[in-house]
Amino acid sequence: MAGIELLLLSLILAETSVALDNGLALTPPMGWLAWQRFRCVIDCTNYPDECISEQLFKRTADLMVSEGYADVGYEYVIIDDCWLASSRDAYGRLQPDPDRFPSGIKALADYVHSKGLKFGIYEDYGTNTCAGYPGILGHLETDAQTFADWEVDYVKLDGCYADTKDMNEGYPEFGMYLNATGRPMVYSCSWPVYQEQDGLPVNFELLKQYCNLWRNYGDIDDSWNSVTSIMSYFSSNQDRIAHHAGPGHWNDPDMLIIGNYGLSLEQSKVQMAVWAILASPLLMSNDLSAVEPQFKAVLQNTDAIAINQDPLGIQGRRYGKKQNIEIWIRPITPVVNEQYSYAVAFVSLRTDGIPYPLQFTLQELNLNNPNGYTFQELFSSNDTFIISQNDTLQFRVVPTGVKFYRATVIE
Ligand code: GLA
Repeated sequence: MAGIELLLLSLILAETSVALDNGLALTPPMGWLAWQRFRCVIDCTNYPDECISEQLFKRTADLMVSEGYADVGYEYVIIDDCWLASSRDAYGRLQPDPDRFPSGIKALADYVHSKGLKFGIYEDYGTNTCAGYPGILGHLETDAQTFADWEVDYVKLDGCYADTKDMNEGYPEFGMYLNATGRPMVYSCSWPVYQEQDGLPVNFELLKQYCNLWRNYGDIDDSWNSVTSIMSYFSSNQDRIAHHAGPGHWNDPDMLIIGNYGLSLEQSKVQMAVWAILASPLLMSNDLSAVEPQFKAVLQNTDAIAINQDPLGIQGRRYGKKQNIEIWIRPITPVVNEQYSYAVAFVSLRTDGIPYPLQFTLQELNLNNPNGYTFQELFSSNDTFIISQNDTLQFRVVPTGVKFYRATVIE
């Protein structure tokens, strides 16, 4: 880009104070993202069903529909790292690995669209992606146009091999090129996590202006430890980050790992409940052909999904902790006489074997509607009851499990 254009762009960036207005992600995006489960497997000879290839994404799109995920709201099928060829084409454009994506990305996007789904792709703001493939630096405008030409609906832009000090300008610049294509694309930014690692302050106002979602913290792995460390980051930092979430712009604690190797069924319910309370994007990273029915039921729990997708878009918080059981609360609709309804999750970090008994008054939970609430436990059937201001909520939570309630305000 010529110097004068760069100057103009920085002036525009400095002057702009409106929120990102691509009309997308008014509730947290839902879909599937390859990375956590499939990483950078590129050996299709030995691992034909697992390698990063057009087959994997076509199969996933098929299963999103046939296994009922699309019906409950999962929508985006998103490629992560390791889809690229090692160099650009003769015109300087990005190109996929020819052996693993022989039909090209446009054909893959068409396939995903033909299933009624949306298609996402991964790139990196720096010189290289985290796995070493070509990054977008020096090619921002071309690459935004290439994604639009391919009919991409969602772009995850990572931040490896980049100077974190340049990100406050570079990420917005790429976002402007995406918008300038005229094709609406959800823009997922990774810049906060890289800046925080370097000890730089994160400019959330800028983030909200240019990104639909952003990664705040390190990568999720396939373990309970990983889930609880992310929960711990989000609760310890909630005063600083939670209020920045809202329709069109979300904090992203990373993918759902439910249905893989690392989480028990009860731990899977915890991830679903806490990710719902955090208004997190619900991006599964699993092998949809191998998810056991009970885990699929957790991923397809429409009550938990409704909490996640609540139209107010208020991110919930960890409200407290009692006897090593965390209390997470999120205000949701319906709102009656200025009183919110709430999602309330009691998450046990205990490992002693009994289902642990607890009780709370509504006041202890700061649920102050004079007429009380209808409580419904979202992972058990037919468990609905009324709790008024004089009652006590009593329940038991299994080790590393959750009781997840919707408390609907009573008029
Ligand atoms: C980073 C990101 C991950 C994934 C990998 C790909 O670690 O945080 O989500 O995209 O890069 O290499």
